Amino acid sequence: MEGIKFNKIGVSFKGSGSYVPDQILTNQKISQKVDTSDEWIKTRTGISERRISGLGCNVTDMGYEAALNAIAMANWDIKTVDLIILATSTPHDLFGSAPSIQHKLGAYNAVAFDLTAACSGFLFALITASQFLKGGSFKRAVVIGADQLSSFVDWNDRRSCILFGDGAGAIAIEATNEFDNVIGFEMKTDGERGSFLNLPFKNDKDSIIDNIDFLRGGFSPIQMNGQEVYKFAVKEVPIILKKLFKTTNYSSERVDWLVLHQANQRILDSVGDKLKIPREKILSNLEKYGNTSAATIPLMIDEAIRNNKIKQHDIIATSGFGAGLSWGAALIKWG
Ligand code: COA
Repeated sequence: MEGIKFNKIGVSFKGSGSYVPDQILTNQKISQKVDTSDEWIKTRTGISERRISGLGCNVTDMGYEAALNAIAMANWDIKTVDLIILATSTPHDLFGSAPSIQHKLGAYNAVAFDLTAACSGFLFALITASQFLKGGSFKRAVVIGADQLSSFVDWNDRRSCILFGDGAGAIAIEATNEFDNVIGFEMKTDGERGSFLNLPFKNDKDSIIDNIDFLRGGFSPIQMNGQEVYKFAVKEVPIILKKLFKTTNYSSERVDWLVLHQANQRILDSVGDKLKIPREKILSNLEKYGNTSAATIPLMIDEAIRNNKIKQHDIIATSGFGAGLSWGAALIKWG
């Protein structure tokens, strides 16, 4: 990055892409592993199945495929991409996976880095990238959300393992001096409530030599207080969206689509009811994929664009929320 290069004021949405692994884990199959049932999972969450990445497919592979699709829809020469941000909590390399995606894409003129904010990750990365574009530092950015939570789920814990799956989504955005299609955004975190949802460091003590201890690297499986996370989401997400409508002078009636982080159908319905947004405007695909963490929002947007639901100039209210705790919202116009 070399300071201000472009005199741009806004962001335009140019393309979307997504990728999910082939392996399908149905509710019925999970019930062979833990004491649960298809009916329980469907009723409590809306999820029927999820994708599991397995051998030979990791976050870098999924993120690459999603980015490639988004760049193809944008019809960009790969060498014109300036910035790649990968939102992930499950990188294939803790030092960062975005540069590997940059390399696989051949996007040699881009700077690429990871951003971690769990299920809010994509939203936070989109806002970060859009600020770089609005500030004039970069012209073309690809924002990726990709996660492989299957590697960190406790597959013996029926209270959490039913929720999560693997996948990736990406959005291509461009700076423009004609308009700004990131109409507004809000971001929040609250570390005090962080213990409700964790993928914590293991704290495995070891010694290098006598009296010099160190902690061996490694992570424990996901720990979740489902009820508290549920209460947090149905309370905070409507509040932040209402605040966003107020600051942008928009009303919920002007919204064409509500794209929430796909965590639980009951959360989606409850947020929609509180905002008086009718069910047909609330996009949902968690029946097929479950909660893919940072991937859910771009995965949902990409599916809706390719199915001709989201059309040019549609207004999308979106909100990500999850571990941290972290949450945020953005009001965007597609195109
Ligand atoms: N199958 C069958 N029974 C299950 C079960 C499962 N997979 N998981 C929990 N149960 C049981 C519990 O043991 C409990 O039994 P008990 O009453 O005999 O003790 C009962 O079902 C109710 O459990 P509870 O935790 O109150 O269920 P719930 O209605 O809150 O649903 C979640 C659980 C996890 C689906 C729900 O809390 C949720 O979705 N929370 C948000 C989680 C989330 O979105 N996390 C990611 C955020 S990014």
